[in-house]
Amino acid sequence: MINETYKRRLEAKSVIRELSEYATSRGQEIGYENVFDYSLGNPSVPCTEDFTNSVIEMYEHMDPMDLHGYSPSLGNTSVREIVADSLKRRFDIPYETKHIFMTSGAASAIAHAVRLVTKPGDEVITFAPFFPEYMPYIGDAGAVLKVVPARTEDFQIQEEAFLEMLNPNVQAVLINTPNNPSGVVYSEKTLKRLAEILNQKQEEYGHEIFLISDEPYREIAFDGVEVPYPARYYDNTLTCYSFSKSLSLPGERIGYIAVNPKAVDADILAVICGQISRGIGHNCPSSTSQLGIAKVIDETSDLSVYETNRNLLYDALTELGFEVVRPGGTFYIFPKALEEDAVAFCNKAKKYDLILVPSDNFGVPGYFRMAYCIDTEKVKRSIPVLKKFVETEYPNR
Ligand SMILES: Cc1ncc(COP(=O)(O)O)c(C=O)c1O
Repeated sequence: MINETYKRRLEAKSVIRELSEYATSRGQEIGYENVFDYSLGNPSVPCTEDFTNSVIEMYEHMDPMDLHGYSPSLGNTSVREIVADSLKRRFDIPYETKHIFMTSGAASAIAHAVRLVTKPGDEVITFAPFFPEYMPYIGDAGAVLKVVPARTEDFQIQEEAFLEMLNPNVQAVLINTPNNPSGVVYSEKTLKRLAEILNQKQEEYGHEIFLISDEPYREIAFDGVEVPYPARYYDNTLTCYSFSKSLSLPGERIGYIAVNPKAVDADILAVICGQISRGIGHNCPSSTSQLGIAKVIDETSDLSVYETNRNLLYDALTELGFEVVRPGGTFYIFPKALEEDAVAFCNKAKKYDLILVPSDNFGVPGYFRMAYCIDTEKVKRSIPVLKKFVETEYPNR
């Protein structure tokens, strides 16, 4: 018999995917250049030439048996060592090979991390706005996702609500900085306070509370700002990383979990992840992806276009009177909609071929997300269209 839980999900498909499919079909009608598709977080700049060249070189010169053979279930050992060294250098934390577990992107890193530190029925707290895929990552592990409402003035953490939600059943807290969808970078003050609260609660409850830190946008930060690295503030941190956005490799499915060396049982957590893989059919990412990123570990694609686009959109939106927090990173912006019903707002925008994502699935009503990983030229052309949309649909604001 087919599992009804998954079957029912067919009726509640991802809003983002549906909008993206709509944008593609609309593009077939009127030309995709005329659709202002702000739906999907798919990088718009290519991966680095060094990555491409290193993969070509591997295919040309490596022994195919080595290249295409099974990698160890925790990931290729030399790649894990390169990842650990890079993190050690950059964040001054003594990571070693044993602390790194290679994954198929951040999705798989989070799915492993949740299973690593919860059992069915345990609670995991996250903060709105949040990436909607956290629901299956956490729910399918049998854990229960609890969402702290958004602090809309700056999209940092609402402390009072967080404190109220904490209870002895909470085994993990999941954060995402820089954040999808708000674009906000958690400040050092936020991370220090979060660590302080978690340390207090660990003591009070007599068990660990792990911090699962989802960081696929770590390298996409603007205005020369350093993104504070959460593991520096809290020992029981599992850092979930992905090369999908920084190196524009989302289809290569490559990332990792880095276990903070000061975490409880730090020496065995990555090894346990290998056991989790067995049950969820993960069994390590492809060897070419692993070896490829190892060659360019400290490189990123040219990410400057995202800052250019952020500047254009932030200025245009504020000029049009939108309430919007200035993103410190990522390629998302999250303004307040001009009516309470974000779905109705985004549906109206569709008439102008502006594809905007309503905020409800991100855990905040009344906002919308724009993924500005698109050509700058298109962002520029979309601004008069946004203006026309606002002036026509909301003339009496
Ligand atoms: C916040 C966040 N976490 C996790 C992921 C999953 O990333 P990956 O493609 O590396 O699995 C994404 C992808 O968009 C994301 O935005």
